[in-house]
Amino acid sequence: MKIAIIGTGYVGLVSGVCYSELGNNVYCVDKDLNKIEMLRNGGVPIYEPGLQPLLIHNADQGRLKFTTDTVEAVAEADLIIIAVGTPPLPNGEANMQYIEAAAKEIAQAMNGYKVICVKSTVPVGTNERVRTIIATHYKGQFDVASLPEFLREGTAVKDTLHPDRIIIGAESEHAAKLLKELHSPLTDEIVVTDIRSAEMIKYASNAFLATKISFINEIANICEKVGADVIEVAKGMGLDRRIGASFLRAGIGYGGSCFPKDTKALIQIAGNVEYDFKLLKAVVEVNRHQRYGVLDKLFQALDNVYGKTIGIWGLAFKPETDDVREAPALEIIDRLIELGAKVKVYDPIAMESFRRMYDNPAITWCETAMDVAQGSEALCLLTEWSEFVTADLAQVEAALARPVLIDGRNVFSLDQIGNTGLSYYPVGRPVFHNKSQYSHLPV
Ligand SMILES: NC(=O)c1ccc[n+]([C@@H]2O[C@H](COP(=O)([O-])OP(=O)(O)OC[C@H]3O[C@@H](n4cnc5c(N)ncnc54)[C@H](O)[C@@H]3O)[C@@H](O)[C@H]2O)c1
Repeated sequence: MKIAIIGTGYVGLVSGVCYSELGNNVYCVDKDLNKIEMLRNGGVPIYEPGLQPLLIHNADQGRLKFTTDTVEAVAEADLIIIAVGTPPLPNGEANMQYIEAAAKEIAQAMNGYKVICVKSTVPVGTNERVRTIIATHYKGQFDVASLPEFLREGTAVKDTLHPDRIIIGAESEHAAKLLKELHSPLTDEIVVTDIRSAEMIKYASNAFLATKISFINEIANICEKVGADVIEVAKGMGLDRRIGASFLRAGIGYGGSCFPKDTKALIQIAGNVEYDFKLLKAVVEVNRHQRYGVLDKLFQALDNVYGKTIGIWGLAFKPETDDVREAPALEIIDRLIELGAKVKVYDPIAMESFRRMYDNPAITWCETAMDVAQGSEALCLLTEWSEFVTADLAQVEAALARPVLIDGRNVFSLDQIGNTGLSYYPVGRPVFHNKSQYSHLPV
């Protein structure tokens, strides 16, 4: 197939590369000339494991091209996929300006029948809006379809090539057939439904996953007070097939470019039809509060943080990505600085993207994980990069000015901590104090 993808960000680029890997001819379009030039030279503007070799291979085969020219890409294509951003407005609603601009640009480039589908996460009714915009400028035949995206940053290539399911929202048989044909090499689980339901499936899925995370975080907070261990609790719960083990990992809450934005957008979508989505409002509130658990633990360990040096391991919202949008680290570091702390930070990949979003003279940008630990009065693990998970804890203890480890992602076991002199503050599990106090605790 000849495909044009409008918007070459995390979703557009990974989709474009993977569709070309299936043998299709793909033209990726972006407004950002620097990004396009970098891609034309085989560079990748985002960190996504496994993406670069596939990109180079398919570009070399002539199946994958990059341009800033929407007209050229649309004119050549039978299928156009919109994958531009839908960032939140201050009231939580999705900002439709990029979708609407893309629809207008596509309309002006149309030169015959094409299927235009929206991969961006968009409120119910957006595909109809796209149809209206195109019909205003182009009088020929075309179809619109919804094609929501479920990839996760960090495993985006794998998720795209091996999806759990493909959701197609289409009202024309031809559009449904074309999209089924495109995705049939990837999975048998292809659901064809109406456009509005497809748009809703994306929001409902993300809202449900966010709910699972906030639920287990609430359970973790209760575990801390009653002396239970949330890891054991989640393990026991997850064995029930009705519940499932995934997304039951307690921590400092969800972040990233999707869950925070999509939960707030769904609350707003409900509000627009006078429905008060109470449950989802609570999920968002629990998540906002959860990240401050790190600060509560710092206060527990140090009394206060004023003038103290606090080490931070991890800035990205999760491992294997450079994305720091809505990362818990942003708010935690901002609050620490506001409280008068000096902050040392390190992330294996996300240092530059974090610094572009948040910089402050109170931050020391370190070159290694151990540089962060050196002389810090407490160390907070905020992203579970494997480099941190496999760190030598004896070395960490020796480097710290005070042996305090706050584990926002619950990555260390009692056995690991028990061999050190660290005071360990996990989430939803008992606090473990250093060796002498540790010996009486049950293992
Ligand atoms: N990032 C994810 O993990 C993920 C997963 C599933 C769904 N989504 C959804 O997919 C959409 C895209 O997300 P993303 O993370 O890839 O966004 P992004 O910000 O990384 O990329 C969007 C790109 O679109 C470009 N763009 C904007 N307007 C354009 C136009 N008119 N013509 C050409 N290019 C244009 C921007 O320059 C940018 O490079 C969003 O709706 C998001 O909610 C994202």
